[in-house]
Amino acid sequence: MSKLIIKNIKLLVAAAHTFPEKVAGKAMQDLPVVENAWLLIEDGIIAGFGPMEKIPSTENAEIMDASDRFVLPTWCDSHTHLVFPQSREVEYTDKIKGLSYEEIAKRGGGILNSAKNMQEADENQLFADAMQRLQEIVRWGTGAVEIKSGYGLTTATELKMLRVIKRLKAESPVTIRSTFLGAHAVPTEFKGNPDKYVDLVINEMLPAVAAEQLADFVDVFCDRGFFSIGQTSKILEAAAKYDLKPKIHANELDFSGGIQTGIKHKALSVDHLEYTGEEEINALLESDTMPVILPGAAFFLNLKYAPARKIIDAGLPLTLATDFNPGSSPSGNMQLIISMGSILYKMLPRETINAVTINGAYAMGLQKELGSITPGKKANLIITKPIPSIEYIPYAYGENKVEKTILNGIVQ
Ligand code: NIG
Ligand code: FE
Repeated sequence: MSKLIIKNIKLLVAAAHTFPEKVAGKAMQDLPVVENAWLLIEDGIIAGFGPMEKIPSTENAEIMDASDRFVLPTWCDSHTHLVFPQSREVEYTDKIKGLSYEEIAKRGGGILNSAKNMQEADENQLFADAMQRLQEIVRWGTGAVEIKSGYGLTTATELKMLRVIKRLKAESPVTIRSTFLGAHAVPTEFKGNPDKYVDLVINEMLPAVAAEQLADFVDVFCDRGFFSIGQTSKILEAAAKYDLKPKIHANELDFSGGIQTGIKHKALSVDHLEYTGEEEINALLESDTMPVILPGAAFFLNLKYAPARKIIDAGLPLTLATDFNPGSSPSGNMQLIISMGSILYKMLPRETINAVTINGAYAMGLQKELGSITPGKKANLIITKPIPSIEYIPYAYGENKVEKTILNGIVQ
């Protein structure tokens, strides 16, 4: 058995012997900590922790000294599109000149631009590029990530993307969940007849994805100018037959009914949420669906900010994720997201940490194995550089506070 003891930890964060599956409302400010602590890892699993006065015998164990350093669970980034063919800075310039996300999309830019490049993209190259992005986000402290398809928009190319994600799952130490997002945009050939594309998603893509067991979840971009609530419902109903739970893009561009539609279909999460009012909050309160805000996309596209405070103060849980993608959020840096959470969304530092750990894990169905420092969970851990406080993490935006990332008990 491999044993690793981390000792002299200045502050062990989000550590408890039993941990809730998600935290909501006022409890989002609670973050159990142990000062001057030790942590034991056995065969890649957290086996115990406690104060230094009660450190167990360190015989046969590898020892790591974490003096002046904090130890936290790794970030769980529950919403990304990090398999993509190339960056899209041309649109970025158009955007700076004043074109909206929808105008860019209407001109065949946006998602359709990535989809065009994705058709010819070499599978090995896609894999290598995505692997590099994964390695980069690990350096920023991410230990679990959800990755979506949705730049294929043909059966063959959606499958190609999902196979790349499957290979990443097998070859990367990061815990990965994959989501089938065939309904990301209506491809040009179906312009004028989007229902026909929805039929293709339901009758051809979904069965093929399920047959190869390529996805854990299903997603639809349910918003103005993309897919209607009727089309979304049809896709989610069909996906339920294959046990694919929804995690959907909703209410980024309008009060689209996307949040309620997701909840009706027992979505694990609804994501974006710029247009969230009382009705949407009430619907969420009646559900187990996790609200997920994507600060990077709102920042990059100059959108209005989702009402994070109202959501939490209503007693709901909240997750923050990167939305890492080439069009609306070209960064997978969760530390920046944590800072945005506090600076732009007025979340307290402890709330932001809960949002990107246990709640992020819940938004991927991983709350039993990740998201806190709890015996029995995977040893996916961040060792920080010497830092003075928890508050310093969102405060020092732009600085990488992570010194080492440990995944499955192994230093990366
Ligand atoms: O989450 N909103 C929809 N989809 C992505 C954007 C993808 C793209 O522009 O390539 C998002 O922001
Ligand atoms: Fe997205």
